[in-house]
Amino acid sequence: MVTESTDRIVLEPPAPSAAVQARSLYVETYGCQMNKADSELIVGLLTREGYRVTDRVDRADVILVNTCAIRENAEQRVLGRMSELNRFKTANPDLILGLCGCMSQHLGDRIIEQAPYIDLVAGPDNYRRLPTMLRALDAESEPALSLTWDRAEHYLDIDPVREAGVNGWVTIMRGCDKMCAFCIVPFVRGRERSTPHGEVIRQIERLAAEGYREVTMLGQTVNKYRDGEVDFADLLSRAAEIDGIARIRFTSPHPAHFPERLIEVMAASPKVCPHTHLPLQSGASTTLSRMRRDYTPETFLEVVRMLREHIPRIALTTDVIVGFCGETEEEYEATCEMMRTVQFDSAFMFKYSPRPGTASHKRLPDDVPEAVKAERLTAIIDMQKSISDLRNRAYRGQIVHVLVEGQSKRDADKLFGKTDAFKTAVFPRRPGIESNMIVPVRVNGSTPFTLFGDIETPA
Ligand code: 5AD
Repeated sequence: MVTESTDRIVLEPPAPSAAVQARSLYVETYGCQMNKADSELIVGLLTREGYRVTDRVDRADVILVNTCAIRENAEQRVLGRMSELNRFKTANPDLILGLCGCMSQHLGDRIIEQAPYIDLVAGPDNYRRLPTMLRALDAESEPALSLTWDRAEHYLDIDPVREAGVNGWVTIMRGCDKMCAFCIVPFVRGRERSTPHGEVIRQIERLAAEGYREVTMLGQTVNKYRDGEVDFADLLSRAAEIDGIARIRFTSPHPAHFPERLIEVMAASPKVCPHTHLPLQSGASTTLSRMRRDYTPETFLEVVRMLREHIPRIALTTDVIVGFCGETEEEYEATCEMMRTVQFDSAFMFKYSPRPGTASHKRLPDDVPEAVKAERLTAIIDMQKSISDLRNRAYRGQIVHVLVEGQSKRDADKLFGKTDAFKTAVFPRRPGIESNMIVPVRVNGSTPFTLFGDIETPA
């Protein structure tokens, strides 16, 4: 599963379009990296149709909000945002307000009952229909909905228009067949399918030609990739042969599909970054079994052991859910114990949120009281914070290699970027150092979330 993040991105406008009267499009994205990649596809598709991207929401003719359904609060947030965006219709009655992505697929036409001002609803397999839907809305006032499933949809012929930055997303799989009890993804993104490997390689080559130095391969269970004889390990080694790309990342692998051969391939290629996001969800075998996660704490630890054996400096990050149905104090404690044992570099931690349609929602009572969930979450976040602090302190005095992303958000005199192990590093600007360069930085300070240092100049 792709990791959830709560930030939103606004796509940068591409080069000015020749069409003076082109309609302007504003896209806002919530949720995981795959949603970000899908928004880039949507922009690719609609700019091809003559739309012009704007970063001014108040100037848009079409606003599309690409959404996440993974937890209830993700949906609540978007509903609030939609009603806010609706205000722009006062100044521009022709404004089209559309909802795309997982929440569309999840709520279907119920969203129109709840928010009748929404004009367009399109699920993740329906973006190809966006131009037709938008044209239909010019002719009539009924909302346009498209929520079909299409197992064959890979959006192969659509070149994404990417957000400005140093990393390019490449979706190598869509959908998910794992059916974890808590997870809505299979119900909103459909069945698992792998993008043909030739297309993946073509996209990475295109990224390299455009000057991107880092690529992140995306899939809900990315390590289950298979196209005929080509599995994920093969795909990684082929990608590593592409000139120009310096760093390859992938997210998110499933712990039950991590053979040693894949780890050997990761270890053998200096381009594959020494970082793996390995969602644990719970450290208790009983909870994992209720979650239908297909692994035990022991097999998870075995993957961790192999990763660290082959790639000693690997950084490990994870996702954890507390307060899953029936979670006892002992089970929660087993998760904490597992986190102490593994010593993840960082973790996303969530309270269980029952999602209609999923197995746990149907069959298991959501019986951990909200106050207990909140208490467990706070405690586990605190615990992980001190582990992250220790992990980051260990970098002090060392040299890390940072792919520069740009100016630090807090200090205009500083730059920031990511190390190969996915740590954010902040350091003073130096003449000649700019975005997209990989620079050596000697770490001289840290917090649980950031490394600080200075560019190391050759003696
Ligand atoms: N409730 C809480 N967290 C969830 N996640 C997925 N589904 C749920 C849910 N119903 C978390 C998992 C996953 C991450 C992306 O979101 O930890 O790995």
